[in-house]
Amino acid sequence: MAAGIIETVEDVTPNVLRAMSGADNVRLQTVMEAFVRHMHAFAREVNLTEAEYDLGIDFLNRIGQATHDSHNEGILFADAIGFSTLVCLINNGNAGATETAAALLGPFWRANSPRTANGGSIVRSPTPGPELFVTCEVVDVGGKALAGVDIDVWQSSPIGLYENQDDTQADMNLRGKLTTDAAGRFSFRSVKPAGYPVPTDGPVGEMLRAQNRHPYRPAHIHFLGFKPGYKSLITQVFVDDDAHLESDVVFGVTRALVGDYRRNDKGEPPAPGVEAPWYTLNYRFVMEPGEAILPKPPIK
Ligand code: BEZ
Ligand code: FE
Repeated sequence: MAAGIIETVEDVTPNVLRAMSGADNVRLQTVMEAFVRHMHAFAREVNLTEAEYDLGIDFLNRIGQATHDSHNEGILFADAIGFSTLVCLINNGNAGATETAAALLGPFWRANSPRTANGGSIVRSPTPGPELFVTCEVVDVGGKALAGVDIDVWQSSPIGLYENQDDTQADMNLRGKLTTDAAGRFSFRSVKPAGYPVPTDGPVGEMLRAQNRHPYRPAHIHFLGFKPGYKSLITQVFVDDDAHLESDVVFGVTRALVGDYRRNDKGEPPAPGVEAPWYTLNYRFVMEPGEAILPKPPIK
């Protein structure tokens, strides 16, 4: 075979790899070479038809068209095929062996959440539902308390809506920024979050329906820990009685991230006027040394 001229189907892959072998950027070269090898192997493995090829290209184009300032269908697709969680776990910790397991940032983090005093409430407008009292500690990999860690928390309401999706909630409801005290602890008052569906009005929704999959995420609270000198910790703690815990549409549930959201039916309530049942959550986060960086907020 003369270089560049294809005589049989076997010639295509080596030809493409040779054409791409001159990149100055070594990392680009490595990533693209593996990408092409796997894409070609995939087409061979399934004997991809031309109709399926057209359908796939149309699907990708429509993912782009469905993406705008406040919605990223591309990330949602990566989430729904487990790719986002795979990349997250490849890059962060060892499923909790050292630092706390990471989980997806998701599309709902907002920068500049209101500063909230330790023990304060993140309920900023009436939000019916079981009350929840969260007490956490943050330690380093040696178990030493970490003081002065900024912790962003954000969650959905007991009907499964973030405040930016729900006109009945005040701006920044169920969001807050706390700081760990000298014992590495932070605590806040909230309401029990509910699970919620990911958007299903685009190509990803079509895929989920075609696969007979439900679109739900199990209920969770998001945490983002930030302290100079420590690797930023982006994670979620899941509600243990959620019906979708074992079938998260974005595959985000790691065993160690299932929290003990304990139901309390009697006894002294943790604050005056709290009616049973109320829930309590205690959780311990471990942060390892590394780079403290904040992600780009997906929404304003
Ligand atoms: C979230 O946890 O907020 C989320 C993650 C991935 C897709 C949709 C929502
Ligand atoms: Fe979420």
